[in-house]
Amino acid sequence: MKNSQDFLRSLEKNAKMLAPAARATVEANADLCSWLLNPLAQWADAAYGDRAFDDAAKGYARYCLGVWKSQQMYEKKGKYTPEALPELMSEVYEDEGYMVPYMWAAILIYPFWPSMISHIEMYRDHFLKALQPGAKVLELASGHGVMGLLAAETRSDIHVDGFDISPPAVAVANRLLAVSKHGRNVTFQVKDALNLDLTEERATYKGIISAMLAEHLQDPRPLFKVIAHHLADDGLVFFSTALESAQRDHTFEFHNESEPIKMAEEVGLRVTRLVSDAGQPAPGGRFLPRALAMILRKR
Ligand SMILES: C[S@@+](CC[C@H](N)C(=O)[O-])C[C@H]1O[C@@H](n2cnc3c(N)ncnc32)[C@H](O)[C@@H]1O
Repeated sequence: MKNSQDFLRSLEKNAKMLAPAARATVEANADLCSWLLNPLAQWADAAYGDRAFDDAAKGYARYCLGVWKSQQMYEKKGKYTPEALPELMSEVYEDEGYMVPYMWAAILIYPFWPSMISHIEMYRDHFLKALQPGAKVLELASGHGVMGLLAAETRSDIHVDGFDISPPAVAVANRLLAVSKHGRNVTFQVKDALNLDLTEERATYKGIISAMLAEHLQDPRPLFKVIAHHLADDGLVFFSTALESAQRDHTFEFHNESEPIKMAEEVGLRVTRLVSDAGQPAPGGRFLPRALAMILRKR
C-alpha cells in the first residue's frame, strides 16, 4: 500500500537537492506527517496511478524554485509584484498545466516545510477534533481538496462544502474525492470565496476553513466578512495565511501578525490560538517569510 515513503522516494529521484530537508521534517514529525501523507498517497495512487508521485515531486520542485525567485524579487523591489488579476486568472487559476503541479506542491509544503508543521497540528488537534458532532463545515479555497478529505477521514460524522475559484484545482479535488470513501460527506465546487451566493442562511456553518487564501486576495477584509457571516455563533474557524512571503499569486502583503488578527477582530471574531513560524529568509534579507495559523471563534 502506498504511503508517505512513496512521496519521499519520488522526491529523491526527481528533486534530489530538496529531498534531505523534506525527509528530515517528515521524520521529526512522523505522527503528523503520516496522518496527512498516508491517506494522500492512497488517494493519489487510486486517482492518478503511480505517476502521481513523480508528478507531485516535480510540482513541488517547480514551486520551491518559483517561491525562491519571487522572494529574491521581493527583496530587490521591496514589495510584492503580482500580475494583474485577469492574468492571474488566465495564467494561474484557470491554467491546468500550471495549476495541477501547483496543487501537489500546495499540499506537500505542509509535511515538507518546518514552518507548516504546526498548521497540521492546529488543524487536526484544535480544529477538526474540536468540531461539534455532525458539524457542517465550509472550506474556502479548497484547492486540491486534501484538507476537506482529511477532515472527513478524521471525523466521519461531519459534512464539508468546499469551494475554489480554480476549475483545474476543483477537478483535482473531485478526482481524489471520487476514490476516497467520503463521497457522501464532501463536495467541491468552483466558486469565488468572496461571491459564494449560497442558499444557506447566515451562521449555519459550525466550522470554516480558510487555509492560505487571504494573501491571494487584493484585500482580505471581505474574506473575514464572509467568514463572520457564515459562522455559527458557537462555531470555530481554522484560518491561515502567509506573511512577507512572495509568490507569483500572492497579492496582499501582510507584514505583522497583528494585521490578520485586527481584521478578524473587526468582524467580531476572537483569536483563541495562534502559531506563526518562520521559513528560511534570503541571506542578508530584510523580510522574514512566515506562515501563520489561528483558531477563531465568535465568542
Ligand atoms: C495556496 S492554495 C491553498 C489551497 C489549500 N487551501 C491549502 O491550504 O493548501 C490557494 C488557493 O486559493 C484559491 N483562490 C484564490 N483566490 C480565490 C478566491 N477568490 N476564491 C476561492 N478560491 C481562491 C486558488 O485557486 C488556490 O487553490
